[in-house]
Amino acid sequence: MRDMAGDMIEAQHRHPEFPDYVAVGAQLATPVIKNGVAIFVDSQSYAADFGFQWLMFKKTQLDSHSGLDISERRLFQALKLAPDALRGKLVLEVGCGAGRFTEILLKYGARVDSLDLSEAVFANADNYPPSSHHRITQADFFSSPIPFEAYDIVLCLGVVQHTPDSGRCIELLVRHANPGGLVVFDHYRKSYRSGSFLRPSAWVARKLILAMPEEKRFATVERLYKWLYPVHRMAGRSMILSKMLRRISPILTHHQRLPLLSDDMFFVWGLLDTHDSLTDVYKSLKTKEEIEDIVRSTKVTSYDVWYGGNGIICRCQK
Ligand SMILES: C[S@@+](CC[C@H](N)C(=O)[O-])C[C@H]1O[C@@H](n2cnc3c(N)ncnc32)[C@H](O)[C@@H]1O
Repeated sequence: MRDMAGDMIEAQHRHPEFPDYVAVGAQLATPVIKNGVAIFVDSQSYAADFGFQWLMFKKTQLDSHSGLDISERRLFQALKLAPDALRGKLVLEVGCGAGRFTEILLKYGARVDSLDLSEAVFANADNYPPSSHHRITQADFFSSPIPFEAYDIVLCLGVVQHTPDSGRCIELLVRHANPGGLVVFDHYRKSYRSGSFLRPSAWVARKLILAMPEEKRFATVERLYKWLYPVHRMAGRSMILSKMLRRISPILTHHQRLPLLSDDMFFVWGLLDTHDSLTDVYKSLKTKEEIEDIVRSTKVTSYDVWYGGNGIICRCQK
């Protein structure tokens, strides 16, 4: 665990609206600044495929791009706050990706400290350039320059299960919140329906793709996806056929889950999510009880854990 006091990073990297960075562990002592992003790592580590993905699909899931409110609904379903409650709040968004939630947080007047290990930070910066209300940092959350006990809200959606240690990640999320602050995250669900034995083709495809050199992975996923997509599109109108395909096919499509998407969007969202699900180095599943146990062991004063979003959503008050 890092030294709470930490050394301050040089004054020139201070941002008047955000807490000062602290020097920690293996990170670069002084950030490199590129496109307004403060970079504290010299590699994307295990998150390189995410970096590639978010640069390739920079706008796909932004509500402002889709014209729908899929991200906004998912965010407020987890936050359980009225949009107005975000005004003036200091939010740490961990694993910000291209910014589907950054967009909504900024739209409702929050100050957003966006952090990601991968080059997704540059997609985020293109979509929502750093400003008085938005700081972007490329760092590993497990040894990040972001101070503890400094945020009104700590948000982490679609991320925890993709880190090497969900428990430690959750503990760190809580540590970054102010006393009285809110911590909200989600996690893939472990259940009798979610085991790899029920989607063996995806399990095998993921193993084979992860064994390939990084530069070949996207092309391989795309070929597989284009080959199987016509079958999914035909089956898409039938609930039963779609359910069956979800069990036997290695690719993901959303004809049943997100029926408002246009035909073009079905194709691209499915390709994005298929790439996401076949190239994630870490994919942890947990039960609701396991998440509750982890949260109870941290310094939260109350918590609520329920099924929703990506599987399980957890909202804690510190
Ligand atoms: C599936 S994406 C989700 C992105 C975004 N939250 C969204 O829902 O669109 C997971 C993100 O977590 C980031 N990530 C994974 N491990 C991380 C770590 N240790 N520190 C910071 N970011 C990390 C990845 O780079 C990736 O952008």
